[in-house]
Amino acid sequence: MTRMLQVNPRQPETAVIETAAEVIRAGRLVAFPTETVYGLGANALSAEAIQRIYTAKQRPASDPIIAHIAHIDQLHHLATDIPDIAWQLAQRFMPGALTLVLRRHDDVPANIANGLETVAVRMPSHPVAHALIDVAGTPIAAPSANTFTRPSATTAQHVLQDLDGRVDVILDGGLATIGLESTVLDLTGETPVVLRPGGVLVEQLREVIPIVQVSPRYVDEATATTSPGQMLKHYSPDANVILFSGDDSAVIARMQAMIRESNQRVGVLIADEDQTHFAAHADVITLGSRQDLSQIGHGLFAAFRRFDQMGVNVILVRDFGRDGLGAALWDRLLRAAEGQVIQVD
Ligand code: TXA
Ligand code: MG
Repeated sequence: MTRMLQVNPRQPETAVIETAAEVIRAGRLVAFPTETVYGLGANALSAEAIQRIYTAKQRPASDPIIAHIAHIDQLHHLATDIPDIAWQLAQRFMPGALTLVLRRHDDVPANIANGLETVAVRMPSHPVAHALIDVAGTPIAAPSANTFTRPSATTAQHVLQDLDGRVDVILDGGLATIGLESTVLDLTGETPVVLRPGGVLVEQLREVIPIVQVSPRYVDEATATTSPGQMLKHYSPDANVILFSGDDSAVIARMQAMIRESNQRVGVLIADEDQTHFAAHADVITLGSRQDLSQIGHGLFAAFRRFDQMGVNVILVRDFGRDGLGAALWDRLLRAAEGQVIQVD
């Protein structure tokens, strides 16, 4: 049985948080809002509780899980040999949409990271997430609260769609504001490497650590075990996503042609600026202005889910560049499209 509990996203009610914290302490699962996406949480110091997450998500144990903290000094409980730059980054970006991969402390069960000697740590800024971790009195392991390979959940309803009966409590705190997952930065090697672009921009990271590599990220299933989370298929709606990139007018002409020629139900996912070009087409979702990519990020996963509910078979979408949040959007779109990109010149 899944219980849905309403919670005030700005000032979470003590009684609600206490109820959910008790569920975490009992080794069970609580889905909760963060500023990026909803998380599916369990006690990060219990191997049994962590195992429940993999089972509920139907997620392979090869994909490791982020541990969430409420206070920066909890880093000491989760990680060892923490480098100076981790503290500098924590100063600037915690709480926030940055996840650091560090050397794992012995107290953290190995199944949080598929036996790797590392652990990923994030301190969410969302008041509900903060209060839950704080009151539970333990770090909380939480992947995004969707079924494996589905788009991440940005509302409590999305969580329920995917995990009804598989999670004990869902805290409904409204919309996740950023709508895209955190940036994952690996600090265990010689050079910091961005494993996943996300809410904190690479440009912002460079202000603190000038040298940072960005991992190519797209590997096939055979290599996915050594490079966790890098599998191409991910964040996918049921519909087939086709991603377009290239010159504005050429891309639009190509998308229009595909709509005309297709004998399937085609959805179009675009920015406000492109709306006039698809005014005659029925299944259009606009995400906001290209001038403000945070709006696009905010609604992307919800739009994928909406198209699935509408029964659309194919989703056409064009990219939003690679700068700023464009990098995270490109990453999510490319994976949703399972690598299918039509480059139009
Ligand atoms: O914004 C977010 O990060 C959300 C919220 C709930 O915090 N969480 C999230 O978790 O997106 P998940 O499990 O869907 O994605 C975590 C990513 C995966 O790509 C995973 O492979 C990577 O972080 N990761 C976790 N632990 C790691 C580790 N020890 N080494 C390398 N990558 C790791
Ligand atoms: Mg995920």
